[in-house]
Amino acid sequence: MKILVINGPNINMLGIREVNIYGRDTYENLLNLIDKVAAEENIEIEEFQSNHEGDIVDKIQSVYKKVDGIVINPAAYTHTSVAILDSLKAVNIPTVEVHISKVSEREDFRQVNFIRNYSLKFFEGYGIEGYTKAIIYLKNYLKEQK
Ligand code: DQA
Repeated sequence: MKILVINGPNINMLGIREVNIYGRDTYENLLNLIDKVAAEENIEIEEFQSNHEGDIVDKIQSVYKKVDGIVINPAAYTHTSVAILDSLKAVNIPTVEVHISKVSEREDFRQVNFIRNYSLKFFEGYGIEGYTKAIIYLKNYLKEQK
């Protein structure tokens, strides 16, 4: 089973950016956590981060028929990107969405979510542990589909 984990803009600044909201775990801590979950759950995981919308669209298109599932934190593009939504629909790969902060309790402009029109499930407010939850949820979903 292969899962692609995508992180959008500013997730590479974890541990530096707004630590009161996103916590002190760094992006490196997040990658280590994902690697640990991959090993424990016996899943092949590829990690990708970009600050550029088109690069995220290109990455999603490039895994058409190549991965079983996607875990995505589109970050700020969650609230703006029809392009990322359309690329997920185009490749039609089961996708779970993660947000480190509790987006549903934040500013009004964050209540618009394009990605939720496609994602199977949404984890928010668990810090970087949300990625563990998303990966395990997706693994179980994919196993049930087989
Ligand atoms: C985020 C929430 C978004 O609103 C924000 O733009 C981010 C991170 C989160 O993980 O909580 O960059 O996706």
